[in-house]
Amino acid sequence: MQNGGHKNDVDPIKTDVLIVGAGAAGLRAAIELAREGVDVLVLGKRRHGDAHTVWAAGGINASLGNLDPDDRWEIHAADTIGEGHFVNDPRAVEILAREAPERILELRDWGCPFSLTEDGELNQRYFGAQSFRRTCFAGDRTGEAIMGTLVDKAKEVGVRYREDVYVTKLLKSGGRVNGAAGFDMRSGRRLLFGARAVVLAAGGYTSIYRRGSSRPDENNGDAMALAYEVGAVLKDMEFVQFHPTGMIEPEEMDGRLVTEAVRGEGGRLYNSEGERFMERHSPDHMELDARDVVARANYREIRDGRGTPDGAVLLDISHRDAGYIKDRLPNMYEQFMEQGVDITKEPMKVSPTAHYGMGGIEVNPRTGATAVEGLFAVGESAAGVHGANRLGGNSLAETVVFGKILGEHLAGALDDLPPAPLDREAAREHFAALGALESGTGEADPQELIDELRELVWDQAGIVRTGDGLREGIAKLRGLRERAGGLAIPDASPSRQFEHALNLRAMLTAAESVMRGALAREESRGAHHREDFPEEADGWRKNILCAADEGGDMHLWTEPVGEVPAEIQKALDEDYSLDYHYLE
Ligand code: FUM
Repeated sequence: MQNGGHKNDVDPIKTDVLIVGAGAAGLRAAIELAREGVDVLVLGKRRHGDAHTVWAAGGINASLGNLDPDDRWEIHAADTIGEGHFVNDPRAVEILAREAPERILELRDWGCPFSLTEDGELNQRYFGAQSFRRTCFAGDRTGEAIMGTLVDKAKEVGVRYREDVYVTKLLKSGGRVNGAAGFDMRSGRRLLFGARAVVLAAGGYTSIYRRGSSRPDENNGDAMALAYEVGAVLKDMEFVQFHPTGMIEPEEMDGRLVTEAVRGEGGRLYNSEGERFMERHSPDHMELDARDVVARANYREIRDGRGTPDGAVLLDISHRDAGYIKDRLPNMYEQFMEQGVDITKEPMKVSPTAHYGMGGIEVNPRTGATAVEGLFAVGESAAGVHGANRLGGNSLAETVVFGKILGEHLAGALDDLPPAPLDREAAREHFAALGALESGTGEADPQELIDELRELVWDQAGIVRTGDGLREGIAKLRGLRERAGGLAIPDASPSRQFEHALNLRAMLTAAESVMRGALAREESRGAHHREDFPEEADGWRKNILCAADEGGDMHLWTEPVGEVPAEIQKALDEDYSLDYHYLE
């Protein structure tokens, strides 16, 4: 029995703003709120500081122009829109490109150990599809360096933090989100939170794929599912980025990121015939073309029998000086050395891996507000800025730019969101449902269903898609959903099976929205490639949105994309692009 009479009666933990997710986006929002004197509580599933951001490797973009003085925010914005194939939210792109320099200098001033030039400026490297060297870095551990800095700053300004919390439901009163329910992943104890506003900063949804660069139990679409269940709108879920280079072995490292920085520092791709095949696929931009182009090239080489026997292409940087490699790519060096591969002497085996969901919760980029009052979203949980494909280095930039904006806005908006009583009855019912799920005596093992779902989404909504494959995938997903209604959870609380059952619930929603969006979008654009509609279609320059209808079914519709601001359009017309041959 918990605090009170009935075990489902739980006393709420109160705060002004509850942030679900403890990566860079959530922390940056929390810091801004705390600096404005707002009481903020951040919930993370893992230990403090161990968020998925620490796996972000190669860098963070800002048009500082330290190495290439011609760079400007307008060109960063034009590159972002070009790579996003013109379905990005132009308002968001403008904010990102304009504000990234200030946010990165702020991180430096807070002590982030960025790599520096000999003149003591922030160093910048090439990254794919960017016209200039714009990607700031800390070796190839940029995310870890940024997280460390944000964790220290959050402590300094008094952000409260709670580890090991799984949020399972958002609570609403009078149409407004004002709390959340969940449980402590160590003790199983039910938890209830009351807040004036809730921010979802809980990452993306690429764990619905068999191979991915995320930790297997993260990025499973919880943020999207939580938002969808309270009436928020999801946008462009069909746009999923496949990073061209993921590890293929050993099994536990399958899909693990091989940072784009390897190619940014001159790494070359070869097939099993020793051919530098990007000369055929993209002679002008070679290995530094957009991620979707390089990922499809790798995929096709492997599919057409020019991969290694174990299904990879070869990424080689051994022509560069060993000291340079160890200095610029220390993590890659160690990661491969642990597997007995010395990248200063031999190539790495790589193949594409699901890396980032461009889709997510629809937000107003100027505030982070969703369609539901009291609910906000930021970081990979939110959609809009990246369009159909994301520039490498823009996601870390997004976390700090939009985290700050959201925090600043929300601190000023709290007067309009006075504390409101929690819907305790809804919380009790939810805890009762969790109890029933947790002692499930059905037939299906949640992890087995997750494995099936990941296989299905990889096969039918992967790098290359077809209408027939997607229709088949959607039908099979329906079958999986039915089987998920009867789960077996034999172990006592708290159990991994219970956690997997909850992950599965979120993954089913994310997978449905990806597949249905991908089926609806009868064209190829950016990361979404339909073999039956191989061209980009002007008529499809629009966003696909989805939400639950009154009966609880998912319904989809389209909306036009906003107009590109004149300054960005001018930079687009000037047609900048990377001169790859600087790297040779
Ligand atoms: O390859 C990388 O280092 C990934 C960076 C990113 O996705 O932004």
